[in-house]
Amino acid sequence: MTASPIVEIRQLSKTYPGAGRPAVDGVDLAIAHGRIFGLLGPNGAGKTTLLSMLCGLLPPSSGSLRIRGQDVRHQDAAIKRRLGLAPQDLALYPYLTARENLAYFGGMLGLHGAALRRRLDYCLDTAGLNDVADRRVETFSGGLKRRLNLVIALLHEPELLILDEPTVGIDPQSRRFIHENLKRLNAEGMSIIYTSHYMEEVEQLCDEVAIIDHGRIIAQGSVDELLAAPREATIELRTSVPPPPAAQAALRALAHVHTAEFDGKFVVLTSAAPQTVAPAAMRLLHENGVETTSLSFGAMHLEQVFLALTGTRLRN
Ligand SMILES: Nc1ncnc2c1ncn2[C@@H]1O[C@H](COP(=O)(O)OP(=O)(O)OP(=O)(O)O)[C@@H](O)[C@H]1O
Ligand SMILES: [Mg+2]
Repeated sequence: MTASPIVEIRQLSKTYPGAGRPAVDGVDLAIAHGRIFGLLGPNGAGKTTLLSMLCGLLPPSSGSLRIRGQDVRHQDAAIKRRLGLAPQDLALYPYLTARENLAYFGGMLGLHGAALRRRLDYCLDTAGLNDVADRRVETFSGGLKRRLNLVIALLHEPELLILDEPTVGIDPQSRRFIHENLKRLNAEGMSIIYTSHYMEEVEQLCDEVAIIDHGRIIAQGSVDELLAAPREATIELRTSVPPPPAAQAALRALAHVHTAEFDGKFVVLTSAAPQTVAPAAMRLLHENGVETTSLSFGAMHLEQVFLALTGTRLRN
């Protein structure tokens, strides 16, 4: 795995005609070759706009975009062939079968004969669609459609696979299936850009993450770096009875406690000083007639990092 950038973005901005504010606003990003790079952000953050510019589908208002050192605006067909985009809005023909869809898009890419048949077999296999290959796409579940949409981007064996919310609205099984395939493709050398609203999947799948909000990158780094940044931990307590309101208020007001959440006999505190807070919280609960039956410390999750950075929860 080399660390040379496959994508370099400098001061990239896009303002749609008539829009009051930019959809992408001064973005700088370098994405190393061979990684699974996660782009995480809520609705309207600018993810699709950014990817559309990267694929040469939308002209930037300003800034530069390079793929393997070559300016995207002057890109020739050879560079375009290195990219595979699975768009957020499904690009499928509902009245055609899965195999016919693949054959159609393969033909557009100049594949034919034995080469096309080889890629069709590969894609149907990778998507786990062999059993339904000759069924019309209109009869497919959301998960099957997503899988087909994804492998169409693999037809021409791209070097960089760009996925715009590939798991939106699908069942957990299909999601797991897609993730396992992406890990395998990445292990075989493919670079991947993956956008999502879902914290857990970015946390599990990606080597590096950029968090985008209102068109700006608000944090970037390895998942470990981002999780370490706030230097907070969670303190999770199980209690003998649900803490009464007075105990809850006292816990919230306890020194070094940042946030406190309550769910029945389950209490989650966040703090930069968990070693100090845990015994104080247990003592305070005891004084309120509540015993602690178990105590554990946990790391912050990306969801909490996002909340700390933006003040909003990720919307699905
Ligand atoms: N074709 C367009 N014309 C005008 N404004 C647009 C257009 N496409 C997107 N926008 C606006 O640009 C901003 C960024 O949208 P974009 O679709 O890039 O966000 P996103 O992060 O992909 O959101 P989502 O998670 O909902 O897909 C939004 O405010 C959106 O309303
Ligand atoms: Mg989008």
